[in-house]
Amino acid sequence: MKTAARSVRLTGDIHWVGYVDWTVRDFHSYHTVRGSTYNAYLIEDKKKVLIDTVKAPYAGDLLGHLRERLKGVPLDYIVMNHVEPDHAGSISRVMESHPGAVLVCTEKSRDILSRYHNTAGWRFHTVGTGDRLDIGNRSLQFLQTPMVHWPDSMFTYDPRERVLFSMDAFGQHYASSGRFDDEVNRVEVMQEAVKYYANILMLYGRQIKRVLKQAGDFSIDMIAPSHGIIWRRHISDILEKYGRWVDSRPRPKVLVIYDSMWESTRIMAQAIARGVTEAGAEAKLLWVRASGLTDIATEVLDSAAIAFGSPTLNKEMMPMMGALLTYLKGLEPRGKEVLLFGSTGWGRGATEAMADFLRKSSLKTTTEPLKVFWRPGEGELERCVSAGRRLGEIALKAPEAKQG
Ligand code: FEO
Repeated sequence: MKTAARSVRLTGDIHWVGYVDWTVRDFHSYHTVRGSTYNAYLIEDKKKVLIDTVKAPYAGDLLGHLRERLKGVPLDYIVMNHVEPDHAGSISRVMESHPGAVLVCTEKSRDILSRYHNTAGWRFHTVGTGDRLDIGNRSLQFLQTPMVHWPDSMFTYDPRERVLFSMDAFGQHYASSGRFDDEVNRVEVMQEAVKYYANILMLYGRQIKRVLKQAGDFSIDMIAPSHGIIWRRHISDILEKYGRWVDSRPRPKVLVIYDSMWESTRIMAQAIARGVTEAGAEAKLLWVRASGLTDIATEVLDSAAIAFGSPTLNKEMMPMMGALLTYLKGLEPRGKEVLLFGSTGWGRGATEAMADFLRKSSLKTTTEPLKVFWRPGEGELERCVSAGRRLGEIALKAPEAKQG
């Protein structure tokens, strides 16, 4: 569905010229329940500068915004902060309309762009950290941010309007009629911001931490990311949240994530969750087939401990548990206490398969899995409660325990 969104003034001579995608629900497997936006920005100084583009199907909307603002004046520069196709997908169409524009990006961006687009004849100006670009009444500044989110990525800073164009960082998959943080539901935005961090950026926490420190040199009145709303009122809130997330600071929360065939593993999961609660920590019981990988990864971010449970199916763990562990292995959550549990009928099974898999991941387990045959008996359930109590006690020592 196309929106009739018009360009929106951020401040001074800067306008949002992106696209609000109300209908997207699957973003390379990320479940985007509230849609998304592909933000692009236009600076109309003596030189006309476009910062980023939009996903390919929405090139016409971006070009419409540019026509509305520029009234036939051509772009001088297109700054590409990041060339993943959700931001650079329209670059060929924009270059067709503005063939004289110079593309400003990192060396790596230029290399990657040439794989997705026919860049022959395009003029490039490659930049790196500390470089500046004079566009009239200000010089844009650049800060390379490798792996936030791709090796090519960078931030662009406008010192005149004190706007940081932060590309994927601080973004949210969130469609809204308001463009700013003070025009939308704050709770929803923060839910989407943490979900975005957990699912897109968690793996790169160390790099983001370094970038946050470097970006601290900028005086910022506005953070304009490539997805979702623009931060102008709650900048300190989102920076403080990122400070927690990059350190993976856990809360006293234990996830009990399980699958089940004939209720045995579910009964074990409930007993473990009971133990967590008895210890005084928060327990979250998540059935992997109903909870969705995107939401589970979000819960993982600030959890102190995780119990993974699966019954045995054909000598293996259940397929959705395999999918979850694969997904989490890629995201590399750190500092979690891990317990494995499950029921089986005979021989080696799901708990062994999960243990084998996790040995190659950041999720290390130091205790023997809780394994029962067929149905858990009373004594075995007591062992589950006791294991849950232990996880709860560990969680209560989390750095953020006092803050809840
Ligand atoms: Fe929104 Fe890494 O692209």
